[in-house]
Amino acid sequence: MAAFEPVLSRNWNNPDILSVKTYESKGGYAASRKALTTMSPDNVVDLVKASELRGRGGAGFPTGLKWSFLPKDRKETFMCINGDESEPATFNNRYLVEKDPHQFIEGILIGCYATKANTAYVYLRFEYIKAIHILEQAIAEARAAGHLGKNIYGSGFDLEIWCHRGAGAYICGEETGLIESLEGKRGWPRIKPPFPAIEGAFRKPTVVNNIETLACVPHIVERGADWFKSMGTPKSYGPKLYTISGQVNKQVCVELPLGVTTNQLLEDHAGGVWKGRKAKAAVPGGISMGILKKEEFDIPLDFEEIRKTGCLGLGTAAVTIMDDQTRIIDYLYNTTRFFAHESCGQCTPCREGTGWLYKTVKRIRSGGGRIEDLDLMSHLANNMGITPGTTICGLADGAAWPIKNALAKYRDELEDFIKHNQNPDYKITAGQDAISKGQSPLPTNTSMFVPGIGLAKSLSN
Ligand SMILES: Cc1cc2nc3c(=O)[nH]c(=O)nc-3n(C[C@H](O)[C@H](O)[C@H](O)COP(=O)(O)O)c2cc1C
Ligand code: SF4
Repeated sequence: MAAFEPVLSRNWNNPDILSVKTYESKGGYAASRKALTTMSPDNVVDLVKASELRGRGGAGFPTGLKWSFLPKDRKETFMCINGDESEPATFNNRYLVEKDPHQFIEGILIGCYATKANTAYVYLRFEYIKAIHILEQAIAEARAAGHLGKNIYGSGFDLEIWCHRGAGAYICGEETGLIESLEGKRGWPRIKPPFPAIEGAFRKPTVVNNIETLACVPHIVERGADWFKSMGTPKSYGPKLYTISGQVNKQVCVELPLGVTTNQLLEDHAGGVWKGRKAKAAVPGGISMGILKKEEFDIPLDFEEIRKTGCLGLGTAAVTIMDDQTRIIDYLYNTTRFFAHESCGQCTPCREGTGWLYKTVKRIRSGGGRIEDLDLMSHLANNMGITPGTTICGLADGAAWPIKNALAKYRDELEDFIKHNQNPDYKITAGQDAISKGQSPLPTNTSMFVPGIGLAKSLSN
């Protein structure tokens, strides 16, 4: 097999690549010129379909297919680019914008041409101040160089890109929450259907794509669908940016073919587990995906195989390693606290479910746990989410899944914890979770699960 050649990150070591001239001198904007001057929009859609590119934002939906859902008789189309990147431990979108903004702009240009969108909104996470400055500067340069604006390359196609800074909410990464927020409203996900392709931003047909998804597109136009499909595993093709963080020696973002294993990421790229310890578990693709046991570290991290471990999917491919001194109760505490904080509250099963999961875990961790709490949590988790059809968006599934997964994989450890961590002062009264005498819980070691980028947010809440 030919050696893997990174494409998405190929310019990351060249700080001059931020300038449009340098990007052009490296062959940049050749793919967009080729698409706009030699291909029809439908040709581009067909090419992306043939490449079987799947969205990198979390769900892995086929990109070309999504583009083809737009109504044929539409008068106006919007492209919304999802750079909310609030899934804990995920930072590949930030790198793509900060380290090679023109590659991303070129991807937007081709994506907009294919979908006939003349306006693109880049929705960037609130905290990404450096990224937004770099991107705005790059957009201005691309415009001055004729890659944006009116009649681009004489093709008759017009495009303007606008940057929109988020307001720091996880839920604004959900595509319809993002659209509501972009429209200046509270980021509450919309009931679907109608899906954004039919009625999205400003009630017009809209495509929502992740930054990394669009960054792949210029390379597909330049090198072809077969090249893209020469990498990866069946049904999961192409290059992927994996982020590795948590209790490792080196927290990194690396580009590899889809389907590498956790062990490869840990040993070959992250320098192994920190402090000479062993690995215990990993979060494979953002905390909403579930948990991998050490024995599952050789499963390919792609869209299909990962499901065999009981995880929800590949998610954002943000891998967080936990060492052998990490307690699963602390992992559950951080995870449930995050989702209880981030639920937008529209749907009762999600609002109440995330809150009660957090309270129950907090009580167990503080020494007030009962074995039957584990069944109670399982019952709660099984009754919230899009999958049983009780909620508007996927946040509830993402909140429930880590609980279901951890209960299935670490039930013995959790039972053991409950048995050996009883605080005699803990009294459970109806509707309350409190320590009756003195408010200090049992000593805990949350710091054992020192998070990567992003999880820090959940800890500091
Ligand atoms: C609660 C929640 C949060 C999400 N956050 C993000 C996010 O930060 N970035 C992202 O690209 N997609 C996120 N998604 C997925 C988006 O809804 C959407 O599927 C994605 O942006 C589509 O892009 P893609 O097809 O290119 O992957 C989130 C979904 C849910 C349910
Ligand atoms: S599932 Fe949760 S986050 Fe999503 S709309 Fe309902 S309450 Fe809001």
